[in-house]
Amino acid sequence: MDFAPLIRNRQSVRTYCDRPVEVEKLGKLVEAVRLAPSACNAQPWTLILVDDPALKNRVGEATRSKVFGLNRFAVQAPVLAVLVMEKPVWTARLGALLQRREFALFDMGIAAAHFCLQAADLGLGTCMLGWFDEKAIKKLLRVPRSRRIALVITLGYPPQGYPVRSKARKDSSAMCRYNRY
Ligand SMILES: Cc1cc2nc3c(=O)[nH]c(=O)nc-3n(C[C@H](O)[C@H](O)[C@H](O)COP(=O)(O)O)c2cc1C
Repeated sequence: MDFAPLIRNRQSVRTYCDRPVEVEKLGKLVEAVRLAPSACNAQPWTLILVDDPALKNRVGEATRSKVFGLNRFAVQAPVLAVLVMEKPVWTARLGALLQRREFALFDMGIAAAHFCLQAADLGLGTCMLGWFDEKAIKKLLRVPRSRRIALVITLGYPPQGYPVRSKARKDSSAMCRYNRY
């Protein structure tokens, strides 16, 4: 797909069918994250692909908020991708300290965007989840306590006829200016 239609095509998918995700496609998604840019080329990520059905369902349950009614759909997805934030190299840490910017968080966001755009190009649906029980997921996936989980991303095939939503976005005049703030 050309880049502009790919960007328009990607959307958060919150219903999935049973069809498993092909191993070759998972490989392409790993490559999309592997090649993502990062501050000082620190690559401060580990991508955990959870496709064991029982484990995946438990991770999916840990993204759910009964109070806010969030993420009930996560267990439907055949794969959950968990992006773990690793300790960046010292140059990136020093840069982040001096600049007072969380470079590693930017890196995670870019990696997640690569994952979701590559998935859309492969006909797969994704939804980034920022709401989850981090402690529970770390325990389930044996993530060291010193690490942070940045995002969980649902992955799978949307059902046929899944509606393509119109983009509820600010007008470009409300988010872009030329030459001055
Ligand atoms: C950092 C981040 C966290 C998000 N967390 C959730 C979430 O926990 N549950 C959910 O259903 N959607 C979540 N989303 C998806 C957004 O709601 C969605 O991207 C936004 O409404 C725009 O819709 P679109 O992705 O279909 O273009 C998250 C998105 C991002 C980037």
